[in-house]
Amino acid sequence: MPLPPGPRIPPVGQTLAWIARPERFMERARARYGDVFTVRLAAVGTLVFVSDPALLRPIFTADADLLRAGAANASLEPVMGPSSVLLLDADEHLRARRLMLPSFHGERLSTYEELIAAIADEALDGWPRHSPFRLQERMQAITLDVIARVVFGVEEPARLAAVREALRALVAMSTRRVVMLPWLRRDLGPASPWRRFLGVRDRVDAVIYDEIARRRRAADLAERDDILSLLLGARDEDGRGLSDRELRDELVTLLLAGHETTATALAWAFERLLRHPEALERLTAECRDQDSDGAYLEAVTLETLRLHPPLPLVARMLAGPWELPGVGRLPAGVMVAPCIWLVHRRPDLYPEPEAFRPERWLGRTPGTYEWLPFGGGRRRCLGGTFASFELEVVLRTLLRRADLRAPDPRPEGMRRRAIVFAPGRGAQAVLESRAPRRRGEPAAV
Ligand code: HEM
Repeated sequence: MPLPPGPRIPPVGQTLAWIARPERFMERARARYGDVFTVRLAAVGTLVFVSDPALLRPIFTADADLLRAGAANASLEPVMGPSSVLLLDADEHLRARRLMLPSFHGERLSTYEELIAAIADEALDGWPRHSPFRLQERMQAITLDVIARVVFGVEEPARLAAVREALRALVAMSTRRVVMLPWLRRDLGPASPWRRFLGVRDRVDAVIYDEIARRRRAADLAERDDILSLLLGARDEDGRGLSDRELRDELVTLLLAGHETTATALAWAFERLLRHPEALERLTAECRDQDSDGAYLEAVTLETLRLHPPLPLVARMLAGPWELPGVGRLPAGVMVAPCIWLVHRRPDLYPEPEAFRPERWLGRTPGTYEWLPFGGGRRRCLGGTFASFELEVVLRTLLRRADLRAPDPRPEGMRRRAIVFAPGRGAQAVLESRAPRRRGEPAAV
């Protein structure tokens, strides 16, 4: 079966171009081959990139047994574990998703607002003044704490320190090559990278299993509203809950899927705002106005995720031949890849697509197949609503008290950090002034 045309250099060359400058590689391929093109990446496979919204509906609504997201994510298995919702397909995936979805329901979000705002306020208190620092790292500290306290529900300081440390080790480990490439997964003695990886994983797992055991015994379990406690109470149609092993895999998945992605989106929001003083001024005024409706904040969040989606694409592995309407039959083993990056840069959808223009979202609702930073269909990001909420609460809390500027007016460009597309210089900023927290009031309303 012939595949749609695409770059003709050998897979090694395509892989190097993808690693060096993925955005240029994608944009050049689209300019040359159009909205559907085939890319061959060493150690990953053959991907058919798709950036026509009309073709995304059939992909996202196709038979999930045939277009498999879990199979496309298989390289994450050593860290996330075999029960991770990201790695499952078909009925098993549906069961995991049904068990997890209620814990992420939009109505629950307001419960977390005060805690997320407190985490951002505490972080801001520790930022240096009058000297440049990297917001990317500060945002990572905030989103890691959100996972530890809102998702894991840990508050007691000594436990929190242990969980934070374990989560940090896990994140650091997850990006190592030894984990991503199957042929490096060999135990060649105690000092070998694979054995060291297994050692770290065991240590981290012990902390997570300990937390699960403590929570199962907690006297106030029924009243708690952290995500781990909610997951402990979740039951499927047969009345079965998640086992400790499944809980461990889902918690690690939530950490790895939700930490760096959200931190990167926050870093980009600041990178762009600090270079658009009129947008920064408007947003700051809105955040400091207790009566505002938050419309501009929402527009900034939508525009940040459009212009800088942390993940450039999603993928579905074909378990059998499949017809992409208007394009042709694609063979088993190929991955179909809705390309978030290229859809978000279509001039017919977004005039002057490279411009950061939050105003374009005022009075406009994002189209399902036109704005897709969280992917789509039944695999759409489980934490998407949570992440958008977190972005808004963190931005509002910080901008209420902080006056920031860019140390360098030049835009930062893009750099790959593991699998996310992050600001090139770490979103550098200078904190000019920091208002004190308002005493006696909740940190955010
Ligand atoms: C700005 C932040 C985030 C971005 C850009 C993002 C993006 C994505 C994308 C593109 C996918 C794949 C969707 C697909 O294949 O169609 C995904 C899946 C997922 N994300 Fe997120 N995500 C973010 C934050 C979060 C957070 C905060 C959590 C949880 C705490 C989370 C949990 C998940 C999970 C569990 C999946 C797997 C869903 C499934 O396979 O059924 N994500 N995310």
